[in-house]
Amino acid sequence: MQDFVFCNPTKIIFGDEAELKIVADIKESGYKKVMLVYGMGSVKQNGLYDRVVRRLIKNELYFTDFGGVRPNPVLSHVKEGIEWAQRNSVDCLLAVGGGSVIDEAKAIAAGFYYEGDVWDFFEGVATPTKALPIFTILTLAATGSEMNGGSVITNEEGAKKYVMSSPCLYPKASALNPALTFGVSPRQSATAAADAISHVLEGYFTKKNNLPLNDRMAEALIKTIMKDIEKILKNPSDYDARASFMWSATLALNGIMNVGLKEFIFPNHLIERPMSAIFDIPHGEGLSIVMPAWLAWFRAKEPKKVDRFCKKMFKKSGADGIAAFEEWLCGIGLPTRLEDVGIKASDIEAIAQNAVMGAKGSALYKEYDKKSIEDILKKALKQSN
Ligand code: NZQ
Ligand code: ZN
Repeated sequence: MQDFVFCNPTKIIFGDEAELKIVADIKESGYKKVMLVYGMGSVKQNGLYDRVVRRLIKNELYFTDFGGVRPNPVLSHVKEGIEWAQRNSVDCLLAVGGGSVIDEAKAIAAGFYYEGDVWDFFEGVATPTKALPIFTILTLAATGSEMNGGSVITNEEGAKKYVMSSPCLYPKASALNPALTFGVSPRQSATAAADAISHVLEGYFTKKNNLPLNDRMAEALIKTIMKDIEKILKNPSDYDARASFMWSATLALNGIMNVGLKEFIFPNHLIERPMSAIFDIPHGEGLSIVMPAWLAWFRAKEPKKVDRFCKKMFKKSGADGIAAFEEWLCGIGLPTRLEDVGIKASDIEAIAQNAVMGAKGSALYKEYDKKSIEDILKKALKQSN
């Protein structure tokens, strides 16, 4: 096992009325001016916004509103948020939404104290060391952003979708009430499942050390997510399935799965980010397309690992095992080929070029040059069958 230091400071408030309990937490922590960050309207339509606002008022907390965060959040809106937070002298942020809302809140929190351009953090020319405290009410279980220090933002100039991360960006507390996810559509729920599965797969396959503990934990977590989403699609209000799914998605990217791994990387994410940056498709849909193609490419290097996974999950190995994974993704309603989301063979070069830029010369991604990424993406074309 690789040496490690593990620290995850986010407090999780899970279950009934968690969205109200977290307001008491903000109050007890001594914060007074809250900036409510939310998305394109789901929280207003389902009544959550009103419930949270009433509780803020009851707790005599001043609050200001910042909605309009879009899926695949963009830099220009982050900058508006930083200005709004500064103008209103807020002392904490309450993000109410999915990964996009939480990621944008993190970027606003980091930009609040920074005199330069917040994009510096995403380019890696500066590292956030101070941020406004962040609280979250999760309405869509998928990304793990509610319990990690990462934020993914797209710079519209050049379609750059980059990540920043810092210990100061972990939320102070996150409210996870599975009932808040009952209204997430079947397609969005399946998209979330693909994302959560991919988070576990990346470390599981790319780690450079032998770690049976991680192998078994990863297989159990992926199997659980698969069973949960199947139940959710049959009954979107199945509390136990939504609860298990919600906590599994958090565990998939809160750091616990990557403890002790050596030199693991996120190649599926490296390849997907340009797809959602250029074509504005949901991140999980992009991953549903990339994962089977990447597995087929990776199998040529590491057949035993891929066959073990496919046998455990689908009782099949080799090309049949990967086909079974793709079939399962299709079965939950996801796209698995580039053309399914309107991406053409002629777009592959631009995606690969963008991905190589995103890797920023990292030695860990040395196998992922433009040619390899093009080869992987070609396997995701319909005619590659
Ligand atoms: O905007 P609203 O109206 O709220 O609607 C959202 C949005 O349309 C809707 N939604 C959310 N909760 C709902 C709901 N609809 C009905 N009922 C509810 N309870 O769902 C749609 C998608 O929301 P979004 O937040 O974009 O989805 P997700 O949570 O999958 O986040 C995706 C973003 O997170 C990034 C992705 O790249 C993408 O930009 N990621 C962040 C990571 C991190 N910070 O650790 C890691 C991931 O790998 C990922 O890259
Ligand atoms: Zn992801």
